[in-house]
Amino acid sequence: MSTPSTDHSDFNTWLTQEVQPAVDDHIERSLQSQRHYEQLWYQIQSGGKRLRPGLVMLVGKLCECDDRRLLDCAAGVELLHTFSLVHDDLVDGDQLRRNAPAFWVEYGTDAAVNIGDMLLSHALTLFPDGARSIAAESVRTMTVGQQLDFALTDRRGVSESEYMEMVRKKTGALFDCCLKLPQTLTAIDLSIDGYGALWPAFQIRDDLLDFEAGKGRSAIGGDVRAGKRTLLAIHADDAQVYDILDKPARDTTDEDVRTVQTIFEESGSFTYARQQMHSLAFEAIAVLSTLPDSPQRRRLTTLARYCTDRDH
Ligand code: IPE
Ligand code: IPE
Ligand code: MG
Ligand code: MG
Ligand code: MG
Repeated sequence: MSTPSTDHSDFNTWLTQEVQPAVDDHIERSLQSQRHYEQLWYQIQSGGKRLRPGLVMLVGKLCECDDRRLLDCAAGVELLHTFSLVHDDLVDGDQLRRNAPAFWVEYGTDAAVNIGDMLLSHALTLFPDGARSIAAESVRTMTVGQQLDFALTDRRGVSESEYMEMVRKKTGALFDCCLKLPQTLTAIDLSIDGYGALWPAFQIRDDLLDFEAGKGRSAIGGDVRAGKRTLLAIHADDAQVYDILDKPARDTTDEDVRTVQTIFEESGSFTYARQQMHSLAFEAIAVLSTLPDSPQRRRLTTLARYCTDRDH
């Protein structure tokens, strides 16, 4: 492992030059018999930051977990993430992912459901014994979070604690799984559960990115069209915003998206969301102080900053 600094470009280089090749190579080897299956590879090979496998590697090194089982876990979580994206774009009606057509746009909705399931089952077979049930449990929690995400879109006056529960589940469950897997496999308790304060921060950055063209989607406002109860919408708690969120996606205009953006600006919702995001990331970083200094600890600190500063 190269010597890490707290610099983002160093972190990016580590992800793209160390984590990604190792994990992608392991996925390809493990699914060798499926090489001919073009649709299975579409979303796996469409890019992606490989943040979750990176997290598995860092925590795994802290626990001195053996490389083989770590790679199995890292590849497994990336496939679980991939499965979740294929289904998520279908249910959210998002047409673009990572600057390319979403899976369901490319291959249709039937294939999106079925290939998503296929990715999930391949993922579960990759996990070593002792890890699989934790992975399966994280998927179950993620799907509960997705159900909450759907249910909240029918409501006004959603509370911030309901939002936090939803994002801890839909986004946080898989990240938590990355922390848990190496600790369970080695029976070493690092006592860093509190680092999980970072996952809502990661999702708040995702909510903010919906207004910054370039997160792999050329148009802004996907969440507005889908009526999502983001932290911004919850903070603004504005009738005109809710009227726009509650329109069918096909009736939501670019002008509507700009109106929502202006209301979020005027009501201080962007500022509030940024403050909450940074304070959660700060909380997560503070938890690491209980660990002795190490290259991995420094990289976990950078990972937290990367989650809040990322532009895609
Ligand atoms: C996107 O996750 C989905 C969410 C949970 C918000 P990432 O931002 O990690 O997606 P990729 O894999 O890097 O594209
Ligand atoms: C994704 O949340 C959560 C899961 C994939 C389970 P979002 O729906 O906010 O993610 P993006 O914005 O489409 O990447
Ligand atoms: Mg989505
Ligand atoms: Mg979604
Ligand atoms: Mg989103």
